[in-house]
Amino acid sequence: MLGVPPLYGRVLPAPLTPSPLPGTEMPRIIAISNQKGGVGKTTTSINLATALARAGHPTLLIDLDPQGNASSGLGCPRDTVAFGIADALLGLEPLGRVIVPTAQPGLDLAPATPSLVGVEVELVNLPNREQRLHLAIAGLEKKYQFVIFDCPPSLSLITLNAFTSADSVLIPLQAEYYAMEGLGELIRTIAAVRRSSNPRLVREGIVLTMHDTRTNLCRDVEAQARAVFGTEVFQTVIPRSVRLAESPSYGKSIFHYEPSGRGAQAYAALATELVARAVSAGGLLEAVG
Ligand SMILES: Nc1ncnc2c1ncn2[C@@H]1O[C@H](COP(=O)(O)OP(=O)(O)OP(=O)(O)O)[C@@H](O)[C@H]1O
Ligand SMILES: [Mg+2]
Repeated sequence: MLGVPPLYGRVLPAPLTPSPLPGTEMPRIIAISNQKGGVGKTTTSINLATALARAGHPTLLIDLDPQGNASSGLGCPRDTVAFGIADALLGLEPLGRVIVPTAQPGLDLAPATPSLVGVEVELVNLPNREQRLHLAIAGLEKKYQFVIFDCPPSLSLITLNAFTSADSVLIPLQAEYYAMEGLGELIRTIAAVRRSSNPRLVREGIVLTMHDTRTNLCRDVEAQARAVFGTEVFQTVIPRSVRLAESPSYGKSIFHYEPSGRGAQAYAALATELVARAVSAGGLLEAVG
């Protein structure tokens, strides 16, 4: 244990009037990814994106998972919209026509529709098959400061599209036995994409999710992650919270379901930490690995 206390329940000081990220006309594009299932990718995508929008940073969340959990979790079930991100990936519709507003001002959503299930197969036969998302985003209005990708639990072609068009990868790590297993493969994939098609790509950092400081296991996982990855692990830790687990079934972010609870506080703190990192020192961690 390196003695770094988790910060949930405590919100880092935020600027009173959030200002645009200096020197950026382009949004910061962050892929939230871990090929391990159920580690908190979608929960983090929904609530981090909402927190960024609430802090004054216009944000677009793109649901890249055929399960469509980010779409339904934001009150946009995947069978209720005309177009989805699959249409933009296949070049059938411009991304702008896919995007819908959400209940949170400043947060838009590019939802997943059931057709995303088949996109993986269709992409294989298309030219520039790893660049399709990059091409779709190139035509995006310049109104967003952050674009967040909720990635599926695999290192599939869709995930490769995400890595090819992102600036960084944010890795949720569930505090559980074998948490670090698979991280090596993820990190090697990020490095391979950086070498081959996207030299900008860095690791945004690792966020510990579903954390319970009362358990030795959680404390051990946190200590191990901080020992291996140092400052790359966010100071903010997301607590295990029933409310966080319940909110998607109401189609609401935690900020609309339990705004004053520790889940909302933790994701607000994560957004503050993320923005602070993005603003300072060019905003990027040194690419390693
Ligand atoms: N901090 C938390 N506290 C309690 N439950 C949580 C928390 N974060 C996520 N969960 C629950 O854990 C489950 C998995 O979370 P989530 O869907 O965010 O993971 P995921 O990595 O996106 O999963 P998948 O790999 O299937 O896409 C969900 O039931 C979710 O509600
Ligand atoms: Mg998910």
